[in-house]
Amino acid sequence: MGKLWQGRTSGKVSKIADDFNSSIKFDKRLFKEDIAGSIAHAKMLAKCGIISDCDAAILTDGLAVILDDIMSGALTIDETAEDIHTFIEETLTNRVGDVGKKLHTARSRNDQVALDLRMHLKAETTEIKDKIAALVGAITCKAEEYKDAVCPGYTHLQRAQPITFGHHLLAYAFMLLRDMDRFSDCFDRINVSPIGSCALAGTTYNTDRQFEAKELGFNGVSQNSIDGVSDRDFVAEFIFCCSLLQAHLSRFAEEIILWSSWEFKFITLADEFTTGSSIMPQKKNSDMAELVRGKTGRVYGDLTGILTVLKGLPLAYNKDMQEDKELVFDAVDTVKMCLDVFAPMVKTMTAHKESMRAAASKGFINATDLADYLVKKGEPFRSAYKTCGEIVSYCIQNGKTLETLALDEYKKFSDKFNDDLYSAIDISNCVNKRVSEGGTAVASVEKQIVEIKLKLNIIH
Ligand code: ARG
Repeated sequence: MGKLWQGRTSGKVSKIADDFNSSIKFDKRLFKEDIAGSIAHAKMLAKCGIISDCDAAILTDGLAVILDDIMSGALTIDETAEDIHTFIEETLTNRVGDVGKKLHTARSRNDQVALDLRMHLKAETTEIKDKIAALVGAITCKAEEYKDAVCPGYTHLQRAQPITFGHHLLAYAFMLLRDMDRFSDCFDRINVSPIGSCALAGTTYNTDRQFEAKELGFNGVSQNSIDGVSDRDFVAEFIFCCSLLQAHLSRFAEEIILWSSWEFKFITLADEFTTGSSIMPQKKNSDMAELVRGKTGRVYGDLTGILTVLKGLPLAYNKDMQEDKELVFDAVDTVKMCLDVFAPMVKTMTAHKESMRAAASKGFINATDLADYLVKKGEPFRSAYKTCGEIVSYCIQNGKTLETLALDEYKKFSDKFNDDLYSAIDISNCVNKRVSEGGTAVASVEKQIVEIKLKLNIIH
């Protein structure tokens, strides 16, 4: 295919330079957006009297047929073209003749590529949000199933206080809901049309940018044409949203890996979401979770990549900006794959209530509740805390637990102890007394589930 830019130069570029310069191998995924953008552009040119209605009809019909042909496979995207914009425009001109040459009036590939990418990322944002919602749904169902399953809650990966497994799972649901919100906010900033900025300075033609933006479903137009073609904030912000989402998935993946180990034995993943070892027959590995954790690094790399590409760019368009696409497409593909595997992996996992409860019964996980018991009997918290620390230390030295320490031994530490201390430190009671908003009590977990379902529009 020829070059769109054989203005001043001969257009003869060395093969090496040509391959290096070409972006069609990756920007071909923008073909739908490029065609939709061109159709809107042709309509705008006619509406503003810049081309005739008849020419516009030839252009829009021709573009619609190109779209159909690519979709049906009748037309293959020619990878010798420089980029998708070149390919579509040249194919159109080959098919409809000289009228095709009018399409690029009052337009530049600089505003065209920014438009295409914005349209593409709007669609991807919606798809990613739907996938997050599916994962939140799967997590919430699991949380409901295990809303009263007691397990240890950790700080510093040391047993800290008893919680319900459902409560723990819901923490991830709330993180992911924030991710959805973040993508929605990002969508609003993507949803601004740059088309009509042209190369950088605007145009002498009497165009209607608002019309074109409206045709394409944008919420408004960029206010400064130089910014319109130079702005890739939306790409960086989008990849940041992907990165934080991956951070959440990766933390969850890490816990799934830990919980599946013999050391924890809190959960078992369905065979379909694990792999074996080629040498050790006993192995059942959580490869999917490990890959989600590993792929998080790629997405962070994409974010670092785009930020670095942008950091030294003078205004306005520079070819460096072509690098935005592979980065953002990689982030999109990775995030979508991770979400696709995560939801069914969560849906099919089984938690082991017995071993979680057994783990919660060790490690003096109810020591805070013992201190709270003394506080309720009139002891200031700081001294109650100290007394209970001494009791824990005494138990460790004497091979006892808080549950098995006799009342007369307790009394040596404080005369405020009575028989009712045992129910105060009972693990289930410890959980169910934590009724504070957002707490771990079953009733509170149920409320959280309702909140999430409301947000997901499952109920209501
Ligand atoms: N392939 C280019 C990109 O992705 C399209 C814009 C080309 N603009 C230019 N002035 N060479 O950025």
